[in-house]
Amino acid sequence: MPERTNRQWRLARRPVGPVSDSDFAWGAAPVPGLADGEVLVRNRWLSFDPHLAVDLRSTNVARGAVPIGAVVPALGVGEVVESRRSDLAVGDPVCGMLGWEEFTVTDGKGFLPMFRLPEGVPPPLALGVLGMTGMTAYFGVRTVGAVRPGETFVASGAAGAVGSVAVQLARRDGARTIGIAGGREKCDWLVREARVDAAIDYRTEDVAARLTALCPKGIDVYFDNVGGPVLDLVLIRLRRFGRVVLCGAISRYESVAPAPGPSNYPSLILRHGRMEGFLVSDYVERFPEALAALSEAVHAGEIRTREDVAVGLENAPRTFARLFSGENLGKQLLRLEA
Ligand SMILES: NC(=O)c1ccc[n+]([C@@H]2O[C@H](COP(=O)([O-])OP(=O)(O)OC[C@H]3O[C@@H](n4cnc5c(N)ncnc54)[C@H](OP(=O)(O)O)[C@@H]3O)[C@@H](O)[C@H]2O)c1
Repeated sequence: MPERTNRQWRLARRPVGPVSDSDFAWGAAPVPGLADGEVLVRNRWLSFDPHLAVDLRSTNVARGAVPIGAVVPALGVGEVVESRRSDLAVGDPVCGMLGWEEFTVTDGKGFLPMFRLPEGVPPPLALGVLGMTGMTAYFGVRTVGAVRPGETFVASGAAGAVGSVAVQLARRDGARTIGIAGGREKCDWLVREARVDAAIDYRTEDVAARLTALCPKGIDVYFDNVGGPVLDLVLIRLRRFGRVVLCGAISRYESVAPAPGPSNYPSLILRHGRMEGFLVSDYVERFPEALAALSEAVHAGEIRTREDVAVGLENAPRTFARLFSGENLGKQLLRLEA
């Protein structure tokens, strides 16, 4: 068999400021042979997660830093083209940790072990609402936020992958939902498709004034994807026994200097509030429960999904950058071939 060439993106240097193409090196390498227990996957779809920005800048490999020279890692969906694993056969569609490359050799181990894609689950859903994205929203809303009917629920990054599922789950659980997002198009989508009660465009509107008008009794649950000044505006409007779900802090991922902390945190004392961070990986054992609930909600039309699909592996760095410019609406994916 002729040797396969693997076009790929490797980390060339640690980004300073916004990521650019020149932080990565585009090249080709031969596909290595397989050891026992490994599979060769032809990558078809890649998922983009904002936290990669932290792992590209960090030097702490034990905590997830991407080593200089390594292929950029990404969750993805592909097809097994060679197998030395008894549970995965050639032709199987699989989902797991792949990378910004055409082929990945892997043993499929890790916090999300590689699995065969169930029949009928399209790759965009497996990487979106029925994957880590949906699971993050599910555990953030149901378990950490413990949203109750009649409560007021606010999310930032609300038109993004996790945020758009979070607001719809909270709505389904009977909360009044308010989404904060950048731009009219995103806010219109939130009201029309995600059916939130109100949307706030943080780029053009006075967020403090809008929150005061929309939440006269305060905020019960804040699902924070962003961090920064909006977190402060919410803290001071938190209701008694309010909860702040710390899902992500994308506004800080690209900054070099440490950002100031929220100055309104004493509200947590006065309102008996709680602010709690979580990682979706904390809940691996409950993934089947989340998957069942999310599948049912999607099939019932109660959660509407939106994907933003780029095409062509050569576009991976600029596709990743879309998460930080806010160009993506919904789950940012890349399809390797049109
Ligand atoms: N805890 C966990 O286990 C876990 C798991 C997965 C993801 N996360 C976190 O969840 C959050 C959302 O991830 P996602 O995959 O769903 O991404 P996403 O929301 O689909 O995309 C990122 C969005 O963030 C917004 N944004 C970017 N820079 C910003 C800034 N400086 N200030 C305010 N907003 C900014 C943009 O939306 P706008 O146009 O609206 O600004 C952009 O579209 C991230 O913080 C991520 O790290 C956490």
